[in-house]
Amino acid sequence: MTRFSNVLNRLKHPIIQAPMAGGVVSSAMIAAVTKAGGLGSLPLGYLDAKATEDAVKKTVAATSGPFSVNVFIPSPPKFISAEQMSQMLEHVNQYRQKLGLNDLTEAPFLQETSPETLIDIAVHHGVRIISFTFGTLSEETINRLHQADVVVIGTATTVNEGKLLQTLGCDAVIAQGFEAGGHRGGGYIENESGGEIGTMTLIPQMVDALNIPVIATGGIMDGRGIVAALTLGASAVQMGTAFLACKESLASELHKKTLLESPDNSTCITSAFTGKPVRGIKNAYIIETEKRFCDNELLAYPIQHQITKDFRAKANQSQMTQWASFWAGQGHRMSRPLTVAELMGKLSQEIQEETPNHRFTK
Ligand SMILES: Cc1cc2nc3c(=O)[nH]c(=O)nc-3n(C[C@H](O)[C@H](O)[C@H](O)COP(=O)(O)O)c2cc1C
Repeated sequence: MTRFSNVLNRLKHPIIQAPMAGGVVSSAMIAAVTKAGGLGSLPLGYLDAKATEDAVKKTVAATSGPFSVNVFIPSPPKFISAEQMSQMLEHVNQYRQKLGLNDLTEAPFLQETSPETLIDIAVHHGVRIISFTFGTLSEETINRLHQADVVVIGTATTVNEGKLLQTLGCDAVIAQGFEAGGHRGGGYIENESGGEIGTMTLIPQMVDALNIPVIATGGIMDGRGIVAALTLGASAVQMGTAFLACKESLASELHKKTLLESPDNSTCITSAFTGKPVRGIKNAYIIETEKRFCDNELLAYPIQHQITKDFRAKANQSQMTQWASFWAGQGHRMSRPLTVAELMGKLSQEIQEETPNHRFTK
């Protein structure tokens, strides 16, 4: 019995609610997913130690079931020239002015807490499932977590990334297809770009190459998608966009409406918002920024994120879709504005309907 199958055995449905950093996942969402027999995930991306402690305690209080926490693994900082910075500030200030915000004269100071510190806080409060994205935890950290009985899950967008995570000792790999909403989780192997491989082709290749469980993520919106992913050999699915439109989601009403109403070809992958490729709804800011700057002229993540985040939040509040950042997967139109319990009920029913004899094999 592997550590990850212990997690699966406790689930009624092999469904993981994706961690979604940026303030959209509520403790009510995590609790409702877990109560319905899936696995809720608390994102710790962008949080410091204090906010992590508060979020973990709040989630522990909201649910009696297990949940996972997710951390970002930062890349080494990249050099940004004074000229590059001033050009980007000038660009971003145009949007700030349109939204009534003061000009930025420098990038806001950013002190990131290490993922190991955030993980230790979560483990201290009883969390026993950790996932990570954007990079890898070290073998030492993974071993240390295993000694504390913690299940460790990494994110891969190519088979090579999956193999690296397996070699480092991960208990399972989240295989992120091209359709996925939010940031791309790969691209951390030197001299290899992250994958832009669709879920349909990534999953079987990952399953064939690895001997640890594969969790499929990207574009899975309903029972058909879940059964397809399991048929391709995935042990579970991780769904993000499907939960974004739920009642318990803290995404703005405008974000939810945009997911439900935008046509199927509305998303793109862009680095214009954060300096790191992310899938979201294409809008004027993306088009104008990509026209003016090529990818290597954008500021490296997380600086580009830091200098665009105020105007994006203000645009969201001001109903200005054209300048807001609405992360969304390619399946966004299949989102359903239900409660999490209703959505989980529908998913369960659809899984049964898709395969009358389907049994979730653990
Ligand atoms: C709004 C949003 C925020 C996300 N934030 C995170 C995150 O903090 N950590 C992470 O590992 N993945 C994050 N993701 C990616 C998801 O884990 C997952 O790969 C993706 O949602 C799957 O595609 P789908 O949205 O089509 O279901 C995010 C996705 C979305 C839509």
